[in-house]
Amino acid sequence: MSQRFKYLENNILEPNLKLMIENKTSSIIDTDTKKKFSFFSDVPDLIGDIDTHEITEKQKNFYNDIKFPNYDDIDDYGSLIDKSKKNIFTDKLDKEIHYNSKILEVGCGTGQLTNFLARYSREVYGIDLSKGSLLLAEKFRRENNIDRSFFLRMDTFNILFKENIFDIIISNGVLHHTKDAKLAFKNILKYLKPNGYVIIGLYHKYGRAYTRLIQFLVKYFGDTFKFMDNKNIDPNISEEKRYAWYNDQYKNPHETLHTYKEIINWFNENNIDYISSIPFNLNQNILNENLFKKQIIKKGFPIYVEELVQAFKYSQIKEGGFFIMIGKKSS
Ligand SMILES: C[S@@+](CC[C@H](N)C(=O)[O-])C[C@H]1O[C@@H](n2cnc3c(N)ncnc32)[C@H](O)[C@@H]1O
Repeated sequence: MSQRFKYLENNILEPNLKLMIENKTSSIIDTDTKKKFSFFSDVPDLIGDIDTHEITEKQKNFYNDIKFPNYDDIDDYGSLIDKSKKNIFTDKLDKEIHYNSKILEVGCGTGQLTNFLARYSREVYGIDLSKGSLLLAEKFRRENNIDRSFFLRMDTFNILFKENIFDIIISNGVLHHTKDAKLAFKNILKYLKPNGYVIIGLYHKYGRAYTRLIQFLVKYFGDTFKFMDNKNIDPNISEEKRYAWYNDQYKNPHETLHTYKEIINWFNENNIDYISSIPFNLNQNILNENLFKKQIIKKGFPIYVEELVQAFKYSQIKEGGFFIMIGKKSS
């Protein structure tokens, strides 16, 4: 069965969205508004030509060109699995997310994580703004016969799934590129089941200080300063990957910075129980810990100092200042 019919079989979209076949061409119709959405490849285009916010438009165009993270060094599903298992975080997700889980990846880019996790009977949905990235995601899925990953073009602020249906929602490196990261967070939670887990990866206010310095130098003095980040010039990384990294990190039209304390407030305001954070709970001990085991919330002066210290940590500088927060939706 073609992938495009499975959205309906899986009963995942809002009930007013129905598949329509006219003159052998299929589309999705909104029976309330009569608006029609087409497919590209087998991907439903649930954004179409609607006007979005200025920042969303910029991101749409930017990531259409910069397909992040791309499949340049990955030949087939076997090499995607090998690569994903080398990354401690993605390997742990694979080991700790239950069989049969329904997962949503918001801002899946070229869909590497979505395709990787779509094994062990899990059903994984990847949404993104970028048509170019989704085409790569879907091509890889099709060529490798991955039948439990599904790609859809949707905006984080206009998600057209039924509410309360996902066991896990992951959004890695995305919310800080939207017009309002906190609002985007609040919006994705609607689609999470009670007791489901949300995992977000964001740029850290202090962890990203070094990247911000290079951004400044590149903006005012040109690309010659790209040498300050080894990933831009490493000959062991392919040219396409270096291009994607350099643009994503140093030329992005919009990014915001966040702190652990701020995200704890987002969690409190949205009835999300804090579970854990990388690096604030799980760092050296990450291999021995469970991502979904509840850790203590850090408070007061010690966490203030720990956040500041991120500016000087090599691991933060190398990855562009990134932290992960995991929470659980209250029942
Ligand atoms: C840095 S990439 C991250 C891709 C992937 N999550 C990863 O970790 O490699 C950011 C992605 O967010 C997507 N994005 C930005 N704003 C979005 C929005 N409003 N709705 C959906 N996706 C969005 C972009 O198109 C891009 O693919």
